Parts: sequence; C-alpha cells; structure tokens
Amino acid sequence: MATSEQQEQSIAVLGAGVIGASWSALFLAAGRDVVVYDTASDVESSVRRYIENAWPILEQLKLTSNGNPDNIRFCSNARKAVDGASFIQESVPEQVDIKHALFNDIEPAIAEGSVIASSASGLTLSEMQAGWVNPAPLVLGHPFNPPHLIPLVEVMGNEKTAPDAVAKAEAIYASIGKVTIRVNREVPGHVANRLQAAVWREAIHLVSSGVASVEDVDKAMWAGPGLRWAAMGPTTLFHLGAGAGGLSDFCERYSDSFNRWWADLGTPTLNNEIADQLISGISDATKGESNDELSARRDAMLAAILTATRDLR
Ligand SMILES: NC(=O)c1ccc[n+]([C@@H]2O[C@H](COP(=O)([O-])OP(=O)(O)OC[C@H]3O[C@@H](n4cnc5c(N)ncnc54)[C@H](O)[C@@H]3O)[C@@H](O)[C@H]2O)c1
Repeated sequence: MATSEQQEQSIAVLGAGVIGASWSALFLAAGRDVVVYDTASDVESSVRRYIENAWPILEQLKLTSNGNPDNIRFCSNARKAVDGASFIQESVPEQVDIKHALFNDIEPAIAEGSVIASSASGLTLSEMQAGWVNPAPLVLGHPFNPPHLIPLVEVMGNEKTAPDAVAKAEAIYASIGKVTIRVNREVPGHVANRLQAAVWREAIHLVSSGVASVEDVDKAMWAGPGLRWAAMGPTTLFHLGAGAGGLSDFCERYSDSFNRWWADLGTPTLNNEIADQLISGISDATKGESNDELSARRDAMLAAILTATRDLR
C-alpha cells in the first residue's frame, strides 16, 4: 500500500499519444512520479523519445528544477497503473466506448479522494460520467496541445462530481505551472475550442469569399490580434481600446460597428471544396517548410513568448 506522501507524488497517465506523452513530460518536469498505461506496443520508446525532445524547452522555461525525466514507469494493466495515484490524467482516444471501458476497468481501483481528469476535447463530462457506477472522482481537465507548453487547462465538474474534486485538480495543475479556468456549464467544445472555432470560421469565410489569401489571413492574425491576445484577453483589450472611459466608452463608441460586422460574418461549412481551397493556400503560407521544421519554430516562439512574459503576469 502506498503512503499518502507517495500518493501525493504519483500521477497516472492513461493514454500516452500526442497529449498523454506531453502531460507525462510536464508532470516529470514538476518532480512527480509518472506511471503510464497505454495499449500501444511501442508506447515506452515513443514516450521516452517525446520526453527527451521536450526536456530542453522545459529546461528553458525553468520548469524542470525539481524534475527527473527517468521517474517514469510503464504498466500494462490499467488498474495497477492507477493504484496509489492521487491524480490520474486520462488521454485515451476521443471515443466514448473506449473511455467508458477504461473507466469501468479502473473504477474499483481508484483510491478514496483521488481525482481523475479527462483531457477530452469533444466529449462532454456527462457523456463520460455515463461510464461510471459513481462518477464522483471524474472531472474535465482539458489541455491545449501541447500541454507541456500551453498553460491553459479547462476544468469542470457538476452535481455528480465530488465537492472537492475540481479544487483538487486545480491545485495539482497550479503546482505544475498550469493556468486553469472553470467551465460552469456544459457546452460542446468547452470554452477555448469554441473561441478557436469562431475565429477559424471567419478566417475560412474570408478566404473562400476572396477577401484575402490563406497566407494573409494567417498573417493578419499573428501580426495583429493574435499578438495582443497572447498578452491579454479580448474584453480586457477592448477595455483599453477607448481611452480612460474603459469598456463602457468602448461599447458606446463601437457597438454599431460590431453589430454590423457580426451581421455580416460568414457561416461556411468545411466541405471538400473549401478544404481544397485551404490546402492549396497553405503552401504559400508555410513557404515549403516541413511540418517538423514548422513545429520546432512554433515551439521555440511559444517558449520565447512564455519566457518573456512570465514576470509580467
Ligand atoms: N490532439 C489534440 O490537439 C488534443 C488537444 C486537447 C485534448 N485532446 C484530447 O486528448 C485525448 C487524447 O487525444 P490524442 O490526440 O493524444 O490521441 P492519440 O490518438 O494521439 O493518443 C491516444 C493514445 O491512447 C492509446 N490508447 C488507445 N486505446 C487505449 C486504451 N483502451 N487504454 C489506454 N490507452 C489507449 C493509444 O495507443 C494512443 O497512444 C482525446 O480525448 C482528445 O480529445 C487532444
């Protein structure tokens, strides 16, 4: 039987693909012991490779001072993986039957007071709760890819969740440097993906209706509002957009403009024709860089932004 100190220290990661491998790297960097359960035969080599690649950037972000990339073990049995873990991060594929089967398997092995957070992007908490006899330990803990770099986690519980589970999850996330928000009501896509979807819908509309190229719409974002949004959220920024009168003056001055723009925003459907148009535009936007090169440059810029802004938050 694990001691409570060992339990506090020990994290189970269930599913270690794109998201679970990144969570593993971050938990290790923060000094936690990680146990991974994943059904893939090559999981150990792929996760170890992921951690090795992620570690230098975690070091650059000064997130590894307590960490040891070797404090990880791989377990081929889900129940054994969660035994003794105070916190479990689930990142198996986004299919309700896979999540339910896993929950059903591990439920008897979850220690009293432990919390399991699901990374699910599309499935809702209530859809996942249907896989439990008693879903009290389950919360939503939805990260943004890659979780070891992007601070946000969206956390949610509801009336079936243990009263302290959301607060416990938030405390664990805070202890590893994450920024959490609370989702108060269940909606598809939670909060951040809906914001992304709204912006991408209009980006697609602008391209498909001939207003600007893929390259220029992307540029308009990273050289314009995207840079500001990395500093502050849209409503706070507009509070600064009309001088000393703040948001109240901004709303008075610009409500007609926004209402007119909203009435004109597009509602495209992402069909084959539109996908082809975006795909033919992406080569101009990426200028022949491979996906690996682009990803490395994206991560380097994210790390630079995070480092530069850390003491200004
Ligand atoms: N990819 C993203 O951008 C992103 C972002 C945020 C959240 N999420 C969410 O994270 C979760 C995982 O997504 P992903 O992109 O990492 O998927 P993925 O397919 O890359 O990884 C899933 C992993 O789960 C393993 N797996 C499959 N069945 C399993 C089982 N029964 N038990 C244990 N492991 C099993 C697979 O071998 C694989 O390694 C999903 O719920 C997804 O919605 C994804």
